[in-house]
Amino acid sequence: MKNNNWLYKAYKTNELPVLKSAHKRFKKPEVYYDLYSLPANIVDYGKNKKYYIRTYGCQANERDSEHIMGILEDIGYTRTMQAESADFLLLNTCAVRENAEKKVFGEIGLLKKIKYKTPDVLFALSGCMTQEPAVINKILKKIPYIDIVFGTHNIYRLPQLLEEALFTTKSVIEVWSKEGHVIENLPSSRESHIKAWVDIMYGCNYFCTYCIIPYTRGKERSRPVKVIVEEIKGLVESGYKEICLLGQNVNSYGKDLKEDVDFTELLKLVADTGIKRIRFTTSNPWNFPIKLMETIAQYSNIMPHVHLPMQSGSSSVLKRMSRRNTRETYLEITENLKKIVPNLSLTTDIIVGFPNETKEEFEDTLDIYDIIQFDNAYTFIYSQREGTPAASMSDNVTMDEKYKRLYALNDKVTTYSKKNKEKLIGKEVEVLVDGHSKNDHNFLSGHDANNNVVNFIGDKSDIGEIIKLRITKALNFSLMAEKCN
Ligand code: 5AD
Ligand code: SF4
Repeated sequence: MKNNNWLYKAYKTNELPVLKSAHKRFKKPEVYYDLYSLPANIVDYGKNKKYYIRTYGCQANERDSEHIMGILEDIGYTRTMQAESADFLLLNTCAVRENAEKKVFGEIGLLKKIKYKTPDVLFALSGCMTQEPAVINKILKKIPYIDIVFGTHNIYRLPQLLEEALFTTKSVIEVWSKEGHVIENLPSSRESHIKAWVDIMYGCNYFCTYCIIPYTRGKERSRPVKVIVEEIKGLVESGYKEICLLGQNVNSYGKDLKEDVDFTELLKLVADTGIKRIRFTTSNPWNFPIKLMETIAQYSNIMPHVHLPMQSGSSSVLKRMSRRNTRETYLEITENLKKIVPNLSLTTDIIVGFPNETKEEFEDTLDIYDIIQFDNAYTFIYSQREGTPAASMSDNVTMDEKYKRLYALNDKVTTYSKKNKEKLIGKEVEVLVDGHSKNDHNFLSGHDANNNVVNFIGDKSDIGEIIKLRITKALNFSLMAEKCN
């Protein structure tokens, strides 16, 4: 077994990712139903031991963490929310913006103290940050006590990496450049018994110039229709009320499959499973056909909410971002969506301060926001990601100016969020109750069909149910309601 001399570990690097090769990758993805397995040595290794996991970033990472938890529980570990009492510490990281990475390095600093006190505790890192060569190098320099580093493509190998870590004094680092296969026999421990994430595809083919995701998650691979539909049928049987179909670009679903199926067809099959609520994220403003809008309108269990990242309201910025749409086509799609889907809510992502963004280009973003009047938006200051094309663009916009633009945009986001919510006062809405409100335990909290947060006073027995509520008050980003008699 491993000795405690962990401070003097040498590094064992099986393979390191190469960002540049991301564009070239293009192998036919394969689906495997038996790649995940437990080595005999560690079948019960986690018995009477605890794991602590912290997840950063997007829903894809949340879902990956559910698989990681499933694997650790398969080995016998149970979960703890207290890092101090854990035998296995894991951070599942996010690389999308510098801020996310800073948070992870902050947490590493905290967990390091635990590792110093109790060297037998295993410390692991996974997720998008580990796919960046620069981060791996920083980890190697700064964190000699790390036990296991794995990437987004080889989660299924965690048992083998754990086994290796137990029988070596070295850090076990295995991160692949090439995208992984579609692995269908991973265990999973879901966070919620009410709502479930369901991956429909992995990766992204678009290489928008600011975005690190195609490099860290590889090219698009779709899961077969049959396994998705079976998974959802199983969730319905287990009492789940809502599923959210996940992919970097759900509208591209099926392009790599032999079967003749696209996202619209998949959505119909999913709706026919009888699951009460269906959501999906993320769509992009290209390949969003009218038939998809009509399908959203046609099925009462497909929620009338579309999250459609816009990034900028300026065609010239969109071009520099290598987005596949213009301001005009974005306006056209959102007009069609509003016409075709009754009671639609529309949310978006916007980046301000992209390299050399002029005042006029930013004004175009404010202007389009006034036209579309989104229900909500996630807004970000552009963050330089090493290895992406935008990172080598010149940039004459000062940080001060970027913050000013962010605040100006956020004012609009708040104004329209509140304005749209005020329209609901006095109306009855159906709310799926998630649990107690995080801010005030006296309130229960849930989401209406439009994905608005609704708080109300109710009974514990309402949790997990879809109930009718009357809206009484609109706050900036949430609603207050009372039960209907
Ligand atoms: N800087 C700022 N925001 C980014 N996003 C992606 N990459 C960056 C970056 N380099 C935002 C986009 C995307 C969301 C998930 O994160 O708006 O839609
Ligand atoms: Fe990134 Fe663009 Fe792909 Fe979205 S579509 S993940 S922003 S490259």
